[in-house]
Amino acid sequence: MPERSITPLILAALLLGTWLALRSIESPSVAPVTASSMPVLAPGMVPLVTGDEPIAAIFTKAGCSTCHTVPGISGADGRVGPPLVLATTGPARLNDPAYRGHAKTVHEYVIESVLEPGLFVVPGYPAGTMPIWYGAKLSALALEKIASYLERQGEVAPQ
Ligand code: HEC
Repeated sequence: MPERSITPLILAALLLGTWLALRSIESPSVAPVTASSMPVLAPGMVPLVTGDEPIAAIFTKAGCSTCHTVPGISGADGRVGPPLVLATTGPARLNDPAYRGHAKTVHEYVIESVLEPGLFVVPGYPAGTMPIWYGAKLSALALEKIASYLERQGEVAPQ
C-alpha cells in the first residue's frame, strides 16, 4: 500500500517544483541598480557653454545639475557626485593627505576638478564618473564663473 499512495505525491512535488522553477525564470525581474544605470552624460548631449549665459543656465547647459546639488540653482539636485558646497568642503580637499593636485586655492581647485577630475577623487564617490571632456565644452569665462560661484557656496542647513 505505501508505494501506491506515495507515487502521486512525488509526482505532484515534481510538477510543483518544475512550475516554480519556470515561473521564476519567466517572471519579469526588476533590473538591479548598478553603476551602469547611473545617468551618463555623453559629450554630444552638452552644447558649448560660452559663459555669457546666466549662472543657472551655465550649470544646467553643462549638465552639472544631473549629478550635483548646487545651492541656489533650481533643478540642480543630482546625487551622483558631492553637493557643490566648496566654501565648506574646498579647504578640506586641499588639506587632504591624499590630494595630489596643483591647486592652491578653492577657486583653482574647482577649475582643476572640472578639467582634470581624475587628479583627486572625493572619498565616498565613484571614480571615473565625472566627465573628462569639459575642457572642450566650457569656455574660460564659463569656468571662471563656475569657480567664482561655487567657492562661495556653503553647506546648506538641513530643512
Ligand atoms: C556624470 C556625473 C557628473 C557630472 C555631469 C558632473 N560631475 Fe562633478 N563630480 C561627479 C562625481 C561622481 C564627483 C566625485 C568624484 C570625483 O571627485 O571625481 C564629482 C566631483 C566634482 C567636484 C569636486 C567636488 C568636491 O567636493 O571636492 C567638482 C568641483 C565638480 N564635480 C564640479 C562639476 C561641475 C562644475 C560640473 C559641470 C560642468 C560637473 N561637476 C559635472 C560627477 C559628475
